[in-house]
Amino acid sequence: MAGRIPQSFIDELIARTDIVDVVGSRVQLKKAGREYKACCPFHGEKTPSFTVSPDKQFYHCFGCGAHGTALGFLMDHDRLGFVEAVEELAARASMEIPREAGQATGGPDRELYDLTAAVAQFYRDELQGDARAREYLQRRGLTGETCARFLIGYAPNSWNAVLRKFGTTAAGRERLHAVGLIIEREGPKRGDDNHYDRFRDRVMYPIRDARGRVIGFGGRVLDQGEPKYLNSPETPLFHKGRELYGFYEARQSRADLKRLLVVEGYMDTVRLHQAGITYAVATLGTATTQEHLTRLFRVGNEIVFSFDGDRAGRAAAWRALENALPQAKDGRQLRFLFLPEGHDPDSLVGQEGPEAFERRLADALPLSEYLVQHLESEVDLEHVDGRARLAELARPLIARVPAGVYRELLIDRLAQSVRMPGARLAALLKLDAAGDARDREPSEPSTVDSRMPGRIAVSPGRRNLVRQAVGLVLHHPHTAGTVSDPQALADVERPGIPLLIELLEVARAEPKITLAGLLEKWRDRPEGGHLAKLAVSELPELSGEQAAIELQQAVNKLLSEGSPARRRDALLAKAKGAGLTGEEKLELQRLLSPKAGPGGARPGS
Ligand code: GTP
Ligand code: MN
Repeated sequence: MAGRIPQSFIDELIARTDIVDVVGSRVQLKKAGREYKACCPFHGEKTPSFTVSPDKQFYHCFGCGAHGTALGFLMDHDRLGFVEAVEELAARASMEIPREAGQATGGPDRELYDLTAAVAQFYRDELQGDARAREYLQRRGLTGETCARFLIGYAPNSWNAVLRKFGTTAAGRERLHAVGLIIEREGPKRGDDNHYDRFRDRVMYPIRDARGRVIGFGGRVLDQGEPKYLNSPETPLFHKGRELYGFYEARQSRADLKRLLVVEGYMDTVRLHQAGITYAVATLGTATTQEHLTRLFRVGNEIVFSFDGDRAGRAAAWRALENALPQAKDGRQLRFLFLPEGHDPDSLVGQEGPEAFERRLADALPLSEYLVQHLESEVDLEHVDGRARLAELARPLIARVPAGVYRELLIDRLAQSVRMPGARLAALLKLDAAGDARDREPSEPSTVDSRMPGRIAVSPGRRNLVRQAVGLVLHHPHTAGTVSDPQALADVERPGIPLLIELLEVARAEPKITLAGLLEKWRDRPEGGHLAKLAVSELPELSGEQAAIELQQAVNKLLSEGSPARRRDALLAKAKGAGLTGEEKLELQRLLSPKAGPGGARPGS
């Protein structure tokens, strides 16, 4: 992988991008006052509730709750990954993406991609000249067209075919080694020749990333040898836990993928595509990871996992279920297909054809059903003890599901099994307390919940001053300039104060920053989610001046709460100098009165 994209570049990119152009090139926008309106591209509607604010550089749909920055819009609408979305915006703005030093920089990486592409082509050429390999693929039922679409090739039976062709220089050998195509011999060096080809006499399946670049290979023996499959090692280009075989090809096949089928094997993927089931992808000999699921759900709302019917398949399925629970959200479908013993998708489509296979898919077990059935098989439901045990087993699993309709349905389904009303079971599981489904997705970007944002209404009764201040800075970043010393807030003991201080300092340092600019700075940080929620909270419409006054008031209240003595001195000093406002005079009176303390100086907070 290339080095990280520096945050300063993202800042500049957001500053130079106009969200109205970005959204406007994909959705027909109509000017309405200071904002733009459209029918929401994320849900079907007839009257527009999708708004784009040029001031905030932010979009928000009041109908379905979708919201975000220009970058987030590209990720959600065009279903791009973060880096891809940055690349798209950078191309629009004609900006070159710098990479942070430390790891490889942009240049050498490109050389590695060029090398893997050239080696894939070399394997393709070798396949043309090798009757045995071509026969093998024919016997497996693959057409020439399919092999071409997946760039399937053949690594000749040689210890140094790739080495000789691509490793003529030391730099060339270094690159071959970096992408895992040659291996260094152990023991003493024998002259120049201490490397050999990793893949020999194997059918080669190039693995491509989401943009179609070859990042690694899987190689299969033609007959009975061991190991059956050899994969590229982890390299700067290739990370097994992230990549999915066939993902690029699936995305190429059609723009609107709704369903994705996750299978176990290379051959399964290729055969399914050939049979017209072009939404199949395979994990690369690993369990399905959170990262896989995040990628898949960016593309479609329905994921079906397919597993062989044997014991190993069942074990893999349960692991997939455990990893999928945090992703089980409203509007998403996760299902499990168990194949008859002795079959894999490849053999099954071969035997019964794509229609029958798709009928099986349609009947795949929903996650909730699979979970309950699996647990039921582990206990004796006829006894109260068994039913209690089932609830106990379910508890840690259900706790991983984000709070929402999906979780409620799951609890209801489970309640049927343990013969108990759903509400009672929920209470037993102690899962109805809000917030316990947090920290499920450690580093997920803030766009994830975009369809169901918890709107924070700032209720007048129990105003949270910190949240109010954070919201004001977020929506009116220029007001931060009116807070002269954010660090003075450090004495205040309230959650969120460090975030408020940092926000104030960033906004003071960059007077032109927008709401979007701030959100992007926090995208990968734990507080990013809170900020994204505040960004769509219903703040009253304020003019810039009113916002500045409100921010000052909130900050002043916080200050007097944090360190009354210091605040009192500051106000006394100000009284002697510039003079006090009416409000400040009252505050000073309170601070000077004998009962003054943190509690006394906190009306209505
Ligand atoms: P065919 O036998 O060609 O039909 O392949 P398959 O894809 O059906 O293979 P199988 O079901 O045996 O294995 C599923 C997946 O597990 C493969 O596609 C590989 O990713 C991985 N795998 C299987 N065997 C090995 C092995 O020996 N070593 C490694 N590293 N991975 C393997
Ligand atoms: Mn197979």
